Amino acid sequence: MKLTFLSVKYRFVYFFLLFTFPSFAQSLFDVQAVPEKPCAPILANIDGRHAQTLNGTWNAMIEPTIFSLNDIMHFAESNYQARPGELVEVNLENGLTLQVPGDWNTQEERLFFYNGKVWYKRETYVQKEEAKRYFLHFGAINYRSEIYVNGQLAATHTGGYTSFNCEITDLVQDGDNLLVIKVDNTLKSDDIPTTRTDWLNYGGITRDVNLVEVPKAFIENYKLNITSPSSGNIVGRVKVNGAEGGQVTVRIPELSIEQSFPVQDGLAALDIEAKPEQWSPTNPKLYTVELQFGDDSITDKIGFRTVEVKDRDILLNGQPLFLRGISLHEEAIGAKGRASSYAEALELLKYAKELNCNYVRLAHYTHNHHMLRAADELGLLVWAEIPVYWNLEFDNPEVMDKAKARMNEMISRDQNRASIVFWSLGNETPVSEARTEFFRQLNQYVKSIDDTRLTTAALVFGGEEIQEMAKMYFFPAMQGNAADSWDIEIKDPLASIVDVAAINQYFGWYYSGFLATAAKLDPKLARQTMLDNMHKVKFHIPNDKPFTFSELGAGAKRGLTGAEDELKIFSEEYQVLAYKKQIELIRNQEGLVGVTPWILKDFRSPMRLYQGIQDYWNLKGLITDNGERKKAFFVLQEFYWTLRKRGE
Ligand code: GCU
Repeated sequence: MKLTFLSVKYRFVYFFLLFTFPSFAQSLFDVQAVPEKPCAPILANIDGRHAQTLNGTWNAMIEPTIFSLNDIMHFAESNYQARPGELVEVNLENGLTLQVPGDWNTQEERLFFYNGKVWYKRETYVQKEEAKRYFLHFGAINYRSEIYVNGQLAATHTGGYTSFNCEITDLVQDGDNLLVIKVDNTLKSDDIPTTRTDWLNYGGITRDVNLVEVPKAFIENYKLNITSPSSGNIVGRVKVNGAEGGQVTVRIPELSIEQSFPVQDGLAALDIEAKPEQWSPTNPKLYTVELQFGDDSITDKIGFRTVEVKDRDILLNGQPLFLRGISLHEEAIGAKGRASSYAEALELLKYAKELNCNYVRLAHYTHNHHMLRAADELGLLVWAEIPVYWNLEFDNPEVMDKAKARMNEMISRDQNRASIVFWSLGNETPVSEARTEFFRQLNQYVKSIDDTRLTTAALVFGGEEIQEMAKMYFFPAMQGNAADSWDIEIKDPLASIVDVAAINQYFGWYYSGFLATAAKLDPKLARQTMLDNMHKVKFHIPNDKPFTFSELGAGAKRGLTGAEDELKIFSEEYQVLAYKKQIELIRNQEGLVGVTPWILKDFRSPMRLYQGIQDYWNLKGLITDNGERKKAFFVLQEFYWTLRKRGE
């Protein structure tokens, strides 16, 4: 480049670029990692607070690469408009818009299978008051997020299914405010879950967003419960933010309770003489509870009940019960992707009620808070979980920290939901020393923050146990020497760590397939042999602990028919046959206290590739994605009706 005479200024710029150019060029490829900025402790019960919704249409921009030709943050910090002649190749408006709450996969064709970054941007008007504090609260963002307010980083968060919030009092201004959120749903091997899941990794701001206003000192969180079915006394604690001392007042008008308690070091311990009606599936009684601290007051609807294990039973309010359940993913009916509203929660859970359920497994991650509110109101007991799913890096301390953080977020949000009886630690994790130690620690941690509920985990009936079953029972049965009882010893040490063991077992669906392939058997004969013998299966759990079947089932494409003896996989008749045989197996158990067949509704999965039948849907639902009932729906409904009539 021939250097004509340049003014000093341009010479400076030229030399500046010359010496910095390589780094300037390099900067196109440097992905500046944003420093972690922790969130604030969870504010309980957002619906009961003074909050401005930020749901609605947000501007968005897909950032599919690891770099951009312009500094995106520059455009995220202001409503920057390119000046005449200025070369700009990025902006966060005039293009894609996305609804919040909502996954991006079902809103934008280009994002259906997308795993990457999307930027969201909107403005909001705030009438800022000196005496207030301001928080941004997110129901969930999947998976990583950076929250910017007026160009300043307010918080970063990892984890796609739990609520989080950040204080923005010092960032929010009176008048218009610019909110920019960077979302990245890319999963890594040290994430929870990892990249391998049998569900679509829906990305985006998938749940409600609220701007919450609180006084300088306010009620951050609380927990109220009864400790025994006989005494009924309401005990608990209230956590105050922004003050060490003072008085918390608890009002429960229906019980003529109004009582104040001293706050010390930000905490008030509650102990209230009371005899509340106890919440149960047959009487989902909720009380209006008002908490007040200074200028702050918050109202909640809380049910009081107890749950415990006694010998081989689960007792609810001191009475044994059988958990007539069904599993659900958090997908709305009507192929709309992530469920995020109260109406969608009701629609899903009403099918569970129609099945005569008293229990649901909200798999495989923490569902939105509307699902728990609806379960409280409909009288459905809940298994709640975080996505410790399949093979995590169990020996990685950061993964342990992430699991504890997700558990803390889930329990902090839902600790007052009467419906929740189980905190599940994980699902189908391969047995190893590191993995069992991981669960020992996680179980201890969960109990340390909530000892009023039971812990569980879905074991995978797999590997060694299936080999043993095959050797002892299945192959002899194939040769005409079928044993009278198929006794299966569960060896997984996790069964001894949790309060209630849970087993995912797919007799009638997967096992005869694996075994026929492995032993080069005729698949139909192998399947028939399994169906003819599975009623003999009896699981034996260490220490005779009570256990549930956390998964069982079979797939069917609605409308695909086949005679029952044809064993036509994916026909509705085969799904019916598998459920009938499973019911025989269920009746043959001792110590079984519940079942959650897999699954209420067909759901999207990138693993289900049988084109023309599955087309990226897992078809084990008893209803289709549009809510049509398959024939097997009525088989389970009838079975649960017989249990219900017998008072089980
Ligand atoms: C496993 C797993 C589920 C999965 C199911 C299936 O048990 O826990 O997430 O969807 O099997 O195979 O359909």
